[in-house]
Amino acid sequence: MIKTDMTKENLIGKIEKLREEINTHNHSYYILDSPTISDAEYDCLIRDLESLEANNPEYITPNSPTQRVGAAPAKGFKEVEHTIPMLSLANAFTDDEAMDFDKRIKKILATEEKITYAAEPKFDGLAVELVYEDGIFIKGSTRGNGFVGEDVTHNLRTIRSIPLSLGQDKTTSFDIPKLLEVRGEVFIPDNGFIKLNKDRIAGGDEPFANPRNAAAGSLRQLDPRITAKRPLDIFCYGIGSISHDEKFETHTEILKYLKKLGFKISPEVREVSNIESAIEYKKSLEEKRDTLGYELDGAVLKVNSIDLQDEIGVISKSPRWALALKFKARSESTTVLDIFISVGRTGALTPVALLTPVKVSGVMIEHATLHNAGEIERKDVRIGDTVTIERAGDVIPKITGIIIERRGKDLEKFVMPLICPECGSKVEQKGAIYFCTNVNCPARIRGGISHYASKGAMDIEGLGEKNVSELFEKEFIKDVSELYILKEREEELSALDGWGELSSKKLIDSIEKSKTQPLNRLIFGLGIKGVGASLSTILASEFGSIKGLSIASIERLEDVPDVGTETAKSITDFFSNADNLCLLENLKDAGIDPKAIKRPKGKLAGKVFVFTGTLKNLKRDQAKKIVEEAGGKVSGSITKKTDFLVAGEEAGNKLEKAKKLKINILSEEEFIKWHREDFKDLEVTKNQ
Ligand code: IVH
Repeated sequence: MIKTDMTKENLIGKIEKLREEINTHNHSYYILDSPTISDAEYDCLIRDLESLEANNPEYITPNSPTQRVGAAPAKGFKEVEHTIPMLSLANAFTDDEAMDFDKRIKKILATEEKITYAAEPKFDGLAVELVYEDGIFIKGSTRGNGFVGEDVTHNLRTIRSIPLSLGQDKTTSFDIPKLLEVRGEVFIPDNGFIKLNKDRIAGGDEPFANPRNAAAGSLRQLDPRITAKRPLDIFCYGIGSISHDEKFETHTEILKYLKKLGFKISPEVREVSNIESAIEYKKSLEEKRDTLGYELDGAVLKVNSIDLQDEIGVISKSPRWALALKFKARSESTTVLDIFISVGRTGALTPVALLTPVKVSGVMIEHATLHNAGEIERKDVRIGDTVTIERAGDVIPKITGIIIERRGKDLEKFVMPLICPECGSKVEQKGAIYFCTNVNCPARIRGGISHYASKGAMDIEGLGEKNVSELFEKEFIKDVSELYILKEREEELSALDGWGELSSKKLIDSIEKSKTQPLNRLIFGLGIKGVGASLSTILASEFGSIKGLSIASIERLEDVPDVGTETAKSITDFFSNADNLCLLENLKDAGIDPKAIKRPKGKLAGKVFVFTGTLKNLKRDQAKKIVEEAGGKVSGSITKKTDFLVAGEEAGNKLEKAKKLKINILSEEEFIKWHREDFKDLEVTKNQ
């Protein structure tokens, strides 16, 4: 029991001593990886401090170890301007490119001498900046666009390996700078990632595609209590601003200094005395990549001398003194247990390989798409084959080839089914793709509902494919409008196996939330053939409402620059289908009828411009802005729909084509003059 009747000085002294003790143990545990007390003893210290602070709240400070999860949910993230821009790295994929980099540096420095590099892992997470004033963590932000990031201080505070106050290593002495900005990579280790995804799947949430996405999603939570539950970690790799009397000679010296202050630095950092050793370093790091327990996508080389770094300088957004040596995309081999057919919302039959589970880049892979009949024919993948799979760039695994030497005897060639495996209807082949001919095929309906609920459309959290299938099969929903009456059956829903009150309430809340989604998302969510996310945005501002779009004629639709005849027809077909009209009516009754602000009709409304050649006075995006602000469109290619071609110097094919199609042609100067005159007298035909 902690006595509270002590003097103020004694009390403050006691609180500070406890905090210091906790911080020291924290540093031993999270940074040095060598705990000095048991978990129970640690918890006991925390509880003592919590109880002292609860009785004396006026002494709570934001950097107290009890306050890691102290902040209330935020409404949004504030912007933070980085005092020194957070740069990115140029990439090298081959040894030759690394050698070229070294040559370039020697040329800039006009030296033949070998360059010493700091060699480090390239962590695959997201970059953050941590700001300390007088040794206290006061602000943390994401990299954002390099100049301005988001304030995620409260979320970063929950990461145990980020010190809240500096100088916990009592074995050495150092000065704490007045201002220090530390940069590093926040990530989720592989084991934490696997557990997190398991929990998400169990809770009906979509799993994260990879540890990097999971880390980014976790750091951008508005409620730090959610972030606190995510197994985030950090490695620090550099500094921004620092007020420090001594000058650092090398990058590795900076890292040693950061380590002394209490930051987590990778034990894999090395100093190498020439480019050949740097390439060796990258190779050995790549070999032990799977044993580290967190994701790397390469090695980073930095010219070690800070003076030389300054001399070499920066071009555009990357320093010329640093380089990322990227690892090869991961490839693993596994066996094909089965090939099954998945029917999507368009009715297309997609063969999917069921694989012996294998870990690729830290993620367990069990399926890989074979895209279509053409692809399966080309690759000749058979049930029982050993295949190589890759997660290029990440997310979706791809079968990159078969290991033919390992093919057993008598493996039969895979043939596409002639009837739909979902509904038994006839299958029709169009080019390389097979389609189920039944528009009411349950798989198509389920696919349509999943698409409606997907991230780019109405973004209904907790309504992934698995839950849609269950709700559809158990007859809770038969189309998307029925999602909005699901709340009337909440009790029944929560009684389903594996649901419970919490997840059914969560789902119903997110369905309700989707009612406020803007028109473009609703249009996209309807899944009209040929209408993707970006065209949906154009259609929303062109027509302003579902009603407006539904009554548009083929000709009117074709007037929209990005709509071709086929898409225009597909849109009018969609809106002349009685079932679809009924669905839209039901959605409207449920309160879903968003309106968009129609594109203001400027002087150039409905006019399509193409720019070609070199513009001397205007930048391309300036020119585009001018046209768009006057209500016109800019397109990349000349078609019958183009109204004006603005031809700069050395205009080539587009100019020829425009002449042939008798399209109005303007020089850059004429365009600028016309703009100054506020595009008066539009009907004048120029330069024919
Ligand atoms: S230094 C000096 N070092 O890579 C250039 N970045 O493409 C600034 N990254 O945004 C970055 N490991 O997210 C640096 N050891 C490392 C890194 C690293 C991963 C990331 C970081 C940065 C991106 C640059």
